[in-house]
Amino acid sequence: MGKKLVGLDIGTTAVRAVEVDNPQQPRPTILRFGEAPLPEGAVRAGEVVDSATVTAAIRSLWTQGGFRTKDVVMGVGNSKVLARDIKVPRLPLNQVRESLPFQVQDLLPVPATEALLDFYPAAETEGENGPMLSGMLVAAIKAPLLVNVNAAIAAGMNPQNVDLSPFALTRLFSSSESANMTTLLVHIGAATTTLVALDGHVPHFVRLLPSGGADITKGISQRMDISARDAEAIKRSVGVVAARATAEQRPALEVSFELVNETLLAIRATMQYFQNARENRAIDRIVMSGGGSRLLGLVETVSEFTKVPASQPDPFSMVTVARDLRGTGDVHDMSLALGLVTGVSA
Ligand SMILES: Nc1ncnc2c1ncn2[C@@H]1O[C@H](COP(=O)(O)OP(=O)(O)OP(=O)(O)O)[C@@H](O)[C@H]1O
Ligand SMILES: [Mg+2]
Repeated sequence: MGKKLVGLDIGTTAVRAVEVDNPQQPRPTILRFGEAPLPEGAVRAGEVVDSATVTAAIRSLWTQGGFRTKDVVMGVGNSKVLARDIKVPRLPLNQVRESLPFQVQDLLPVPATEALLDFYPAAETEGENGPMLSGMLVAAIKAPLLVNVNAAIAAGMNPQNVDLSPFALTRLFSSSESANMTTLLVHIGAATTTLVALDGHVPHFVRLLPSGGADITKGISQRMDISARDAEAIKRSVGVVAARATAEQRPALEVSFELVNETLLAIRATMQYFQNARENRAIDRIVMSGGGSRLLGLVETVSEFTKVPASQPDPFSMVTVARDLRGTGDVHDMSLALGLVTGVSA
């Protein structure tokens, strides 16, 4: 047994954790996983609002899940995170990272000292003034991040790192078979949607949208004047499959179609952007994850709309699973927590 590490995903609807052995391996072994639900309003748009509730949920998750370590990697991925392509003079990566505050201040809405900055190199190019590195700049405002980290610390955790969720998903879903392919990752949560366009294992474009499955539930509840719980149940039973809706459920179907349409347009725009920026290299496949992508008929709809094969793989099929694996919650909901501890240097 090697070093153990837990990916801790504080989502809008639940706190989730996945413990792995040897996280630095491309296929680490999952030892245990679990989920503790959160009441509405405890987390909004990726930011912890009610710290005491979130801390209590993390505590209970550890007690019930039997996790053996409190060393955690946490995720961040809300629409306030900025991710964009930049070019910087080619230097060793640690020097590039040190120079970021000076290079990117103009791109940031806050002083660089108030942001966490990182750079992910994609390619080396020749510029007018010498060799350059092109890659992705990632900037996240520190203050809200610290609130999330502090909620974990208050539960007794030792956060080792905070990673951007698009990169966690990239590490999980870009397998060796996809090394020569281009992929669009579409992760739909309750309040956030993450789009990542990959060439092989390298993310070239990230888009974080402040919308998700909860908007559909809310829309149905408002249009049909029913409770959120009833709206959620109708949403799950009808999805975007016209044949499944009774006459009474028709308005729910319409709401789902309207909101899914926005996601489809965002997907198409991202694919187009990628293709234009990558010398006409099109997206070969779409990999979907997150609870919102479980909407009945959605994967098929995305595939029909984009004319690109779309799938929703079991995240645990990407790694090795311990023989005595146990856990609570649906494995499909563990993709982000697992990605946070896949292929990282611990
Ligand atoms: N079977 C299903 N059919 C339709 N929608 C579903 C299904 N299962 C889950 N969802 C939706 O998925 C959403 C929750 O997804 P997920 O658990 O990935 O979000 P989260 O991590 O809590 O939130 P976020 O990542 O946005 O902070 C909810 O809106 C829920 O209604
Ligand atoms: Mg989530």
